[in-house]
Amino acid sequence: MQTDTRLITFKAKGIRTSMSQSSLPLSIIWQDNRTLSLLDQTLLPLELRYEEQQNIEQVWDSIKQLKVRGAPAIGIAGAYGLVIGMQDNVELSTAEFLAELRKQADYLNSARPTAVNLSWALERVVNKAGQSDADTAEALLSIIRHEAELIHEEDRQLCRGIGEHGLPLIKEGMGVLTHCNAGGLAVSERGTALSPLYLAHEQNISFKVYADETRPLLQGARLTAWELSQAGIDVTLQTDNMAAYAMQQGLIDLVIVGTDRVAANGDVANKIGTLGVAILAKHYNIPFYVASPSSTIDLSTKTGADIEIEQRHAEEVCEFGARRTAPENISVLNPAFDVTPAELVTGIITEKGILHPPFAEGLQQAAS
Ligand code: MRU
Repeated sequence: MQTDTRLITFKAKGIRTSMSQSSLPLSIIWQDNRTLSLLDQTLLPLELRYEEQQNIEQVWDSIKQLKVRGAPAIGIAGAYGLVIGMQDNVELSTAEFLAELRKQADYLNSARPTAVNLSWALERVVNKAGQSDADTAEALLSIIRHEAELIHEEDRQLCRGIGEHGLPLIKEGMGVLTHCNAGGLAVSERGTALSPLYLAHEQNISFKVYADETRPLLQGARLTAWELSQAGIDVTLQTDNMAAYAMQQGLIDLVIVGTDRVAANGDVANKIGTLGVAILAKHYNIPFYVASPSSTIDLSTKTGADIEIEQRHAEEVCEFGARRTAPENISVLNPAFDVTPAELVTGIITEKGILHPPFAEGLQQAAS
């Protein structure tokens, strides 16, 4: 189904720049130094609707409900969320402003635990304000606004860098499997795992993408299959349990996925089901790459065992398309992420280059 992109201007009244350079809708729009609009990704691919964020509670809710999702995107949204939360606090003293900023950062950070980008971006904004010698709340506000804008702009550069370093992996005629959505919708622009694919497509390399549907919230079907097809990339949708079949049939030459947190030893957390794909790739001798900007590397987390895995509501598993598909009161397991051990990872594509095992040293350099 092709979404009518004209809807964007119709639904997003007052939003001037809603398309990225690659003509895909942006997930996050910051305007006039004070207005944050988020593309409601829960409505895709049926409707493109931006929601202007009126207050910090709304930003928290947008992150929690996955209206904005993907590790880098929730970091950027969180940073702007602090500006939204603090912009009516300019009558405070600087000490009161900093205390309130800390409180609001802790609040936003409680929305989702696994992607390190959220806490990373919030800490970066809070620290920038705390280390400044600004003597008014107004000045502190402009510091946090500037830092949020920097995080947003830097993410564009990180995604471009990952695209350039990942490009040589994409060869003519390949089948590339991806899981969940680590594309333009999950970041500022272009994506992490999908960034090399967009670049390869621009360079007229022909390849085929197999997008795992990604139960239970269908980021692969609703977002990845949609954004790639909008860009004119050859994409085939499959349910998650078809990945083994596709590999056995020789359709897959390469796997690239995104990540929510890379531990210091190279273990990677990503969307639930990624671990299964990595184990399959190992079995079929298919290279398994993880695309990670430096903002997703967390050297303070030693191994994947230390990563908190978000557990989500049972209803997500008990329903399909708003229709109940499970018995009432059934017990449900619904972890949103799993951890792929470093030994299953062929390489980590960062904005500075591709890291190969053992990852510890390379990750330290990439994160610095
Ligand atoms: O629950 P989500 O949709 O936020 O999960 C997203 C993923 O797992 C992505 O692969 C990851 O955040 C990388 S996005 C560049």
